[in-house]
Amino acid sequence: MRGRAAGLAERKHGAREGPSARATEAQRSRGKLTVRERLDLLFDPGTFTEIEALRRHRARGFGIEGRRPSTDGVVTGWGRVHGRRVFAYAHDFRIFGGSLGEAHAEKIHKVMDLAEAAGAPCVGLCDGAGARIQEGVTALAGYGGIFQRNVRASGVIPQISVMLGPCAGGAAYSPALTDFVFMVRDIAQLFVTGPDVVRAVTGEVITHDALGGAAVHASSSGVASFVHDDEETCLEEVRYLLSMLPGNNRETAPVADGDDPADRRTPALLDLVPAEPGRSYDVRAVLEEVVDHGDYLEVHEHWAPNVVCALARLDGHVTGVVANQPLRLAGALDIEASEKAARFVQWCDAFNVPLVTLVDVPGFLPGVEQEHQGIIRHGAKLLYAYCNATVPRVQLILRKAYGGAYIVMDSRSVGADISLAWPTNEIAVMGAEAAVDVVHRREIAASADPEAVRELRVAEYREELMHPYYAAERGLVDDVIDPAETRAALIEALAMLRHKHRPLPMRKHGNQPQ
Ligand code: HXC
Repeated sequence: MRGRAAGLAERKHGAREGPSARATEAQRSRGKLTVRERLDLLFDPGTFTEIEALRRHRARGFGIEGRRPSTDGVVTGWGRVHGRRVFAYAHDFRIFGGSLGEAHAEKIHKVMDLAEAAGAPCVGLCDGAGARIQEGVTALAGYGGIFQRNVRASGVIPQISVMLGPCAGGAAYSPALTDFVFMVRDIAQLFVTGPDVVRAVTGEVITHDALGGAAVHASSSGVASFVHDDEETCLEEVRYLLSMLPGNNRETAPVADGDDPADRRTPALLDLVPAEPGRSYDVRAVLEEVVDHGDYLEVHEHWAPNVVCALARLDGHVTGVVANQPLRLAGALDIEASEKAARFVQWCDAFNVPLVTLVDVPGFLPGVEQEHQGIIRHGAKLLYAYCNATVPRVQLILRKAYGGAYIVMDSRSVGADISLAWPTNEIAVMGAEAAVDVVHRREIAASADPEAVRELRVAEYREELMHPYYAAERGLVDDVIDPAETRAALIEALAMLRHKHRPLPMRKHGNQPQ
């Protein structure tokens, strides 16, 4: 027995070491950590349990039968992150470029199935070249099995993709189906077809990074939710995100010890937000003032920055915050902002994370380009996501709330449980000047002093339709609050709603706008 145990230890040691010192050196020369170093950074020390370390492919042809390394290029198993169970698979680029063959795919399928059965998050550390060319259609079928599991587990367990190398083809589609995508600058790229294929088909010449690097996906395509400069910071942030997620859709996120008083007053807000609706400010400063210890995790920070989506804690409870950002496009909603917020709202709803919506919105962004690219269809996604959300929902109107954008930003009429407003709120179909130009256009044109008439009508409109108590008088906001009481009021509303239960009618699934 001892002899066999020693033999086993030797095999496992070999699997852990990887294929060769030369391959490890090549990995380092690309500026990347090895798969084992990454897993050490992800999990609490000494908690990782590996399965199928001794798995090897049985493929033949194209010279592959001569190389059958243990693990087949992917390490799978589970461990603990901040004491809570998390499953992971991690490509080993040193073995066939981390490419996916039959055995490799089956290992990922198994760990995804286990994560779903155990009700714990699944993290993919991605550094792989897509379908393994030598294994042909079996490799492609392996991807099909991953996609099917990604979708099956969507809204059941949190799924996180961490991009740590060049990921092509199928290796790019699976992350797109998961909840959060992390990328590390300079080493991670994501594309369906790489620069060589692009050049061959379209004649465009482009580098890997310019085609699918972190900067592109963080700010233009919106594929990356988070971007970091190095792997260590990235994996630490993955751990931080996991600390805010429930294990599955039947749980709520872990509650932190609330050592930031729930009734802490927030008088700084009186100076942070200018009363004049046209003046700009950073809504993230409002968020910082309100949430526990000023800590929040912003999702898609660099994409569609005119809306801020963040996870934060209020009295220890994880809360999703959606806020218009007056610093960008005056906080107007455009196509990308609608898509970003819709997906965030949908995610929060799927995982029992209550929603707080901070409204300061002049409307949907007008323009030919927006209309032609389908702002109706994309704006409808946000509407659909809010209307469908059954988690506790609290709206707080900070200042402007005009037109369709007011309705969409979780107004009471689309199902917010509680709607609060500051005394600076201005809820209306549109701003005063625009409204007067529509309704009194003829009168202004016919007048001897058009400017004076216009001014008069604007003042009338403001007094009659835009005063802060107009909505309160009609019960469309539940209370107008002093900004200094914002934190206490939000926490009280969320506490009241903690056990909210409002199921939707039975159906297979809705037909949400795409
Ligand atoms: C098998 C592969 C491979 C692949 C790379 N390798 N891609 N082996 N199948 N798809 C091997 C290389 O032969 C090499 O092996 C090692 O991995 C490292 O590759 P390099 O090219 O030397 O590395 P690098 O210069 O860093 O370039 C990495 C890369 C490039 C950008 C990923 O290798 C590349 O473009 N590969 C092809 C990507 C691709 O087209 N994949 C298929 C996508 S289609 P040695 O032995 O020399 O170390 C797909 C279908 C699913 O995935 C679609 C579902 C929707």
